[in-house]
Amino acid sequence: MKKCLFVDCLIRGEESRTRELAEAFFEKLKDYDIEHLILEEEGLRPLTGDFFYERQELLEKNDLTHDRFRYAWQFKEADLIVIAAPFWDLSFPSLLKIYIENISVEGISFSSTEKGLKGLCKAENMIYLTTRGGIYGDNNPMDCATPYMKALGPFFGFDKVYCIAADGMDVWGYDSKGSLDKAKQEAKDLAKHL
Ligand SMILES: Cc1cc2nc3c(=O)[nH]c(=O)nc-3n(C[C@H](O)[C@H](O)[C@H](O)COP(=O)(O)O)c2cc1C
Repeated sequence: MKKCLFVDCLIRGEESRTRELAEAFFEKLKDYDIEHLILEEEGLRPLTGDFFYERQELLEKNDLTHDRFRYAWQFKEADLIVIAAPFWDLSFPSLLKIYIENISVEGISFSSTEKGLKGLCKAENMIYLTTRGGIYGDNNPMDCATPYMKALGPFFGFDKVYCIAADGMDVWGYDSKGSLDKAKQEAKDLAKHL
């Protein structure tokens, strides 16, 4: 069975609209075992102080077997990656950035070559699911999350990064339910075709 890693950065519990979007996606995803990684439960640490220097030493020794690299191995070995996170402060929650710091390990998830960075991850596709309070649409310079997520494709070696977003969750008078329903349908259609 193929493995799907669900990177869950859904901070607002059951009331999360992004969770609803993710649930719609998983309702239609077949033929995958889901590994559900709830970032809030992991006690992830940012790369600072001793935690940073320990990593540098391990990389210098090319010791990639240390337990702290387990997130990078798990990410590398998944057949499909799904990241769900709300839109916060024009981007995504810092918790997700801390996770990305932990999985970005040279020799595991990517390598540096003379021609630039090369992704080493197994998955062909990554899916990024989000909901936003305001209305941004596509290619809005105020949306710093989507371009970042798309850049993870070549960084980690995915052929395709799909981004599905529901806008206007917190705009008074906006059809936020309609917006979420449309994104949910898009997520279901995508899941059926993976
Ligand atoms: C800390 C925080 C920061 C936010 N920043 C933004 C923002 O920059 N732009 C925006 O449109 N909405 C922003 N919002 C609103 C959320 O994007 C919106 O409510 C989203 O649907 C939350 O997803 P959730 O229901 O899955 O938690 C923010 C909400 C919070 C709690």
